[in-house]
Amino acid sequence: MAGDPAKGEKVFRKCMACHAVGEGAQNKVGPVLNGVVGRAIASVSDFTYSDAMHELAAQDGVWTPEELAQFLAKPRDFVKGTKMSFAGLRKEEERADVIAYLATLK
Ligand code: HEM
Repeated sequence: MAGDPAKGEKVFRKCMACHAVGEGAQNKVGPVLNGVVGRAIASVSDFTYSDAMHELAAQDGVWTPEELAQFLAKPRDFVKGTKMSFAGLRKEEERADVIAYLATLK
């Protein structure tokens, strides 16, 4: 499903308590998400990830749109032991839209 980045920017409000994006963005509770689509998993060097996220990185390598969609549906099911305390995005459309938005951020 191809997402709509403009809608995804609104969906991203649910993430902003913990994640920053854009120029000069800093890590918050979660890592900066600029360029996360296609980025190596758990690769923000000054962010302390859970062991679970490092294990996923060792198996999978890179955040593809497909993997992001699975993660964002139910983060704690996809990465057992993740410290991302977020229930997930229930609707497929919301997941596709937020991933399309993230893909615009380099
Ligand atoms: C990690 C996306 C909401 C806290 C991540 C990662 C992604 C992501 C892609 C992995 C980053 C990487 O490998 O560098 C999102 C999106 C959200 C969202 C799109 C909204 C739909 C939240 C919320 C919180 C949060 C609301 C805080 C309550 C974290 C934390 C991590 C993380 C702590 C590190 C997880 C770990 O090391 O296990 N997020 N996130 N996120 N996020 Fe989120």
